[in-house]
Amino acid sequence: MRSLLRIVESRTNVPLPPQPKMRIGVLASGNGSNFQELVDQVKAGQLPIKIATLIYNNPDAQVAARAAQAGITPVLLDHRQFTSREALDQAIVETLQTHKVELVVMAGWMRRVTEVLIHQFPDQILNIHPSLLPAFRGAKAIEQALDYGVKVAGCSVHLVRLEVDAGPIIAQAAVPVLEDDTYKTLAERIHQEEYKLLPQAVGWFAQGRVHIKGNRVAISE
Ligand code: GAR
Repeated sequence: MRSLLRIVESRTNVPLPPQPKMRIGVLASGNGSNFQELVDQVKAGQLPIKIATLIYNNPDAQVAARAAQAGITPVLLDHRQFTSREALDQAIVETLQTHKVELVVMAGWMRRVTEVLIHQFPDQILNIHPSLLPAFRGAKAIEQALDYGVKVAGCSVHLVRLEVDAGPIIAQAAVPVLEDDTYKTLAERIHQEEYKLLPQAVGWFAQGRVHIKGNRVAISE
């Protein structure tokens, strides 16, 4: 819809009235520094979205305090309280629908998702992963990159599919691996790139600039 409006505007040269901000639902499992960056950029007026809800699955996740601090009520859906992945995803869907979410952002969400979630938000779920996909999927991507000895690591934002850390790539950033890098030093530099890449990708969606053709994603001007 947003991309359609953009096309109408550019073809007719008639500026459309301002649209309501895209409503985002964030899923996070841990620290939440990527969530924090989204919050900060929204607050600074750099990102035209509304963070409608934050869902987390670990009761002690730091991200919950970050959300509360930002005035967003964090919603705990503890995976241990659900009998299956599908049941957890159904609860996630209901929470996202209650908050009228249009785009789902997995920012450090460490759970596999099922068809239950994907079906309700087709091509509307993003994930950030700390590797240059398709390399080093799954947990501990940065450790995997160091163990493998690659010279270039990085991060990717992609659309979510059933396969873990797979799906059409929206954006990537490369980070050189230095000879004396440890997990901590490399993770820190990758995180700095994530803080630029994820808000940028979310902004493209909010502006209706993302066009998906099979596995290829184009970003219009
Ligand atoms: C980020 O580095 C993100 O790329 C990674 O979890 C971290 C969360 O950090 N995600 C994955 O590994 C997904 N497979 P944060 O909680 O500080 O945003």
